[in-house]
This record gives sequence, structure tokens and C-alpha cells, in this order.
Amino acid sequence: MTGEGADDDGPGADGESVVRRDRFSGGPARAFLSSLADDERIFAADLAVDRAHVVMLAEQGIIEGEDAGAILSALAEIGDAGHAALPDGEDVHEAIETAVIDRVGPAGGRMHTARSRNDEVAACIRYRLREDLLKTLSTLVEAREQLLETAGGHTETVMPGYTHLQPAQPTTVAHWLCSYEEALARDTARLVDAYDRVNRSPLGAAAFAGTSFDVDRERTAGLLGFDGLVENATDAVSARDFLVETTAGMAGLATTLSGLAEDLVTMASKGHVALDDDYASTSSIMPQKKNPDTLELVRGRTGDAVAGLQGLLTTLKGLPRAYNRDLQRAGRHAWDVIDSTTGSVEVAVGAVATAEWPADTLEEAAGEGFSTATGAADLLAQAGVPFRTAHEVVARAAEGMAPGESAPGIDALDAAGEAVMGEPVTGRVDREALAGALDPAANVAMRDSRGGPAPEAVEAHLERAREGLAEDREALGRRRERVEDAGEQLNAEVATYV
Ligand code: ARG
Repeated sequence: MTGEGADDDGPGADGESVVRRDRFSGGPARAFLSSLADDERIFAADLAVDRAHVVMLAEQGIIEGEDAGAILSALAEIGDAGHAALPDGEDVHEAIETAVIDRVGPAGGRMHTARSRNDEVAACIRYRLREDLLKTLSTLVEAREQLLETAGGHTETVMPGYTHLQPAQPTTVAHWLCSYEEALARDTARLVDAYDRVNRSPLGAAAFAGTSFDVDRERTAGLLGFDGLVENATDAVSARDFLVETTAGMAGLATTLSGLAEDLVTMASKGHVALDDDYASTSSIMPQKKNPDTLELVRGRTGDAVAGLQGLLTTLKGLPRAYNRDLQRAGRHAWDVIDSTTGSVEVAVGAVATAEWPADTLEEAAGEGFSTATGAADLLAQAGVPFRTAHEVVARAAEGMAPGESAPGIDALDAAGEAVMGEPVTGRVDREALAGALDPAANVAMRDSRGGPAPEAVEAHLERAREGLAEDREALGRRRERVEDAGEQLNAEVATYV
């Protein structure tokens, strides 16, 4: 079937610009039904989808080249005028179609041949989401770069490490930062993975059951830069799991950032980090205050992200095939989570990049709570004492510590050795090595296992992390380029009609 027919038929024929028949969706439910305001987010996407669809229709001989040209020119004008200039409509798709018919006349009504708003909106969301994902991902890659750069300057800055918020073992600022960069690398990987499933075209599925027109779905997919199709027409219009995995990836990312923010808030409360004024806030009454509010908001926004994911899943749960209007409420969850989380990436990492770490205070704190104990036990075990016995010796010495003391002296360790294994600790290990194990910096340097905090181990990790980052940057660049190339190709094709 082709789009033969007299041009004076249909909506717009008598000068009206209606796409929907007036009998429907008027009255008090009109505003309730409308997504036009929310759809601003997909305005540009819809124009691109329209353009690709019209080019394909003309190439397939479904509409005349002349009509295609008139429609494409109208779309250009509508794009220039912007979303705010659209006529009233139930949504952006309807409003744009009305605006096209306003300009072109009844032939404008050919634009919506062989498609439905169902495949159209799914294509628009995927198209826009792709752009958002690319933006978040490049923010993330820059953020990781900053973390690695900051880490590079702090491989020797010793700081206390905690488990259960109790002093555990000394580590370094670099080692701690790298732990977050590695987590963010996985968040990046999850989002890239999601991107590749977002980037599939549902266009050509029509309402849910395909079309009798000879559409070329691969062609519209290619013109829009999609990597292939969502093949089954019903799945193409029903599926929003691409929103779920993107939003879940964002909520995971927000959770990583929340941990980083929480660490910084705790560090700031102890004077272990000095935040730049740009990332701090003051009290309206307590003049001495400098509060880490930005980081508390990063932590707080994670609640929004988790709520968004929950809202989205709840919206989708139990929906029957194929299109149901509930789906109109799905996108907004994803957009909110993306905007909120992308802002958090920038702020959390900006706070890190501009902060100062007071090395002396940190090193002193790193020795508190006998956090060097494991190093002392390791030393004994390396001298042949079973680790469990070594653990017992050092624990015995720890129990004898006076309040406020940060570590037992060598004499106390010797006495504990006598009591537990019948010989002093210094009978087994070199006195100087033992003093080293009790010194936070030397204690850190002992832990040079792969992925450990010793400066050379962190240097090696940094090198691998930088390579991983470069690969991610490249993978991202390839995807961006593919989208840009498709945009240029679409422009070129459109230009042949107008
Ligand atoms: N505004 C709708 C949405 O966002 C577009 C699809 C409308 N389709 C329909 N069959 N009513 O989902």
C-alpha cells in the first residue's frame, strides 16, 4: 500500500489544525492526559525521529518526495520556533503533527503514515536517553580522571582506615581515593552496557503489531544512529526495561557517591580533610561553622535516585502488553534520577579535587587505636610464629594499653610474648622492624600486596586504572562519534528534499 489519496482530505482540510477528533479528550481530563510540558525533554528527539521517518517513507515510495520536502521544511521551522511555540496537544507528537499540518496543509497528515505514537515515543525516549547517558558518562570519566589525579599526589599521605568506624589499619589518601575510582569504573561499565541496549530502534513497530506499509526499519534505525532494532513490534512499544537498567545503573552510581560523601563528611568532622569553601556551607547562627552540606546533599540525593528506581518499577509492574498510558509516567523517573545523579558526580568529585588533606594530623590519627596491631602480628607470623598465636600476643599487649595510649610499647609487646608463647617478641623479630611495624607510614609500606596501600602498590594500581580509564574514554568516544555521524547523515538526506 502507498499513501495515494487526494490532498484535500483529512484534518486541516478546512483550515483546522486538529490531529485528534474534538469529541475526545476535552473537558476536565484534558490537562490530566497531557504530557506536553514534560515532553519538552524529547522535543528535539521527536523532530529527529520525524525527519528520519519521513526520509524513509519517501525513499520507500510510501509518500511523494515533494510532500516529504514540505513536511521536512515545516519540521525545520517548528524546531526553530521551539517547544514553547507548539500548538496545544495531548503530547509533543500530536502537537508537532498539528504544527506540520498547519504549515503544509492536509499533505502534512502523511507524516504519520505507517507509525503510531507508541513506536514514536519509545524511539524518542531512547534517542534522548542516549544523549543523557553520553553526558553522564563523560562527566563520570572526567570525575575518575580527577580522582586519579588527586590520588597521584597522595600516595604517601598516610591516613587512618576504619572498619565499623573504629580505627583499623593505616592506609593512604591515594589508596582510599582509588577504591572509589575503581567502584566508579564499574558504575561506568554498567551504564555503557545499558547504553548499548537503549540504543536500539523500536521505530516501524507501529501501534504494536507492525504495518502493511513496506517500511525499512533498518534505514530509520541507521539514520537515527541506533545500533539495530527492537525486533518484535509488541516488545518494541511495550518495553521500558531499558529505562529500568539505566535508572538502576544511576541509582548504583548514586550509592557509590553516597559512600564517598559519607566518608568526606566523617573526615571533615574530625578535621581530617579541609573542604574548599565552594563545597562548604555555614550556619545562620553558629559563626564558627563550616559544614559539608554539598556532600550531605550528594548523600541525600541518593535517596531520590533509589526512590526514582522504585517509582519506575512500580509503574511498570503488572502492565499488560502492549501500550498502556501508564507508560507516559515512566520516563520522568528516569530523567529525574539522571539529572540528580549527574549533578552529584560533579559535586562529589569537585569537593575531592579542591580539598586539602592535612598530612600531619592524618598521620597522627593513623596511629590511634593501635591501628598498627595487624602489622605487628604479621611481622611475628613472618618470623615463623603461627598467625593465631601472633594475633593472641598482640591482642594481649593491646588489652594492657593505658587509656589514651595509641599503641603499646615494645616492652609491653615483649611481656605479652612471654605470657602467650614463652618468649619476648624481640626474641623473634628484629627490634627495628618491630618499631617500623608500629609506625603508621612504615606499617603502610609493609602492605605492598597487589591492590594494597604501599606507595609502590598504589603507583602500579594507578597505572592500570589510567589504562582502564583511557579505554573507557575511547569506548565512549566511539559511541558519541557514531551518533554524530548519524546526525550528519540524516541532515544530508533531509537536505536533498528541502
Ligand atoms: N504521550 C504518550 C506517552 O508519553 C505517547 C503515546 C500515546 N499513545 C497512545 N496510544 N495513547 O507515552
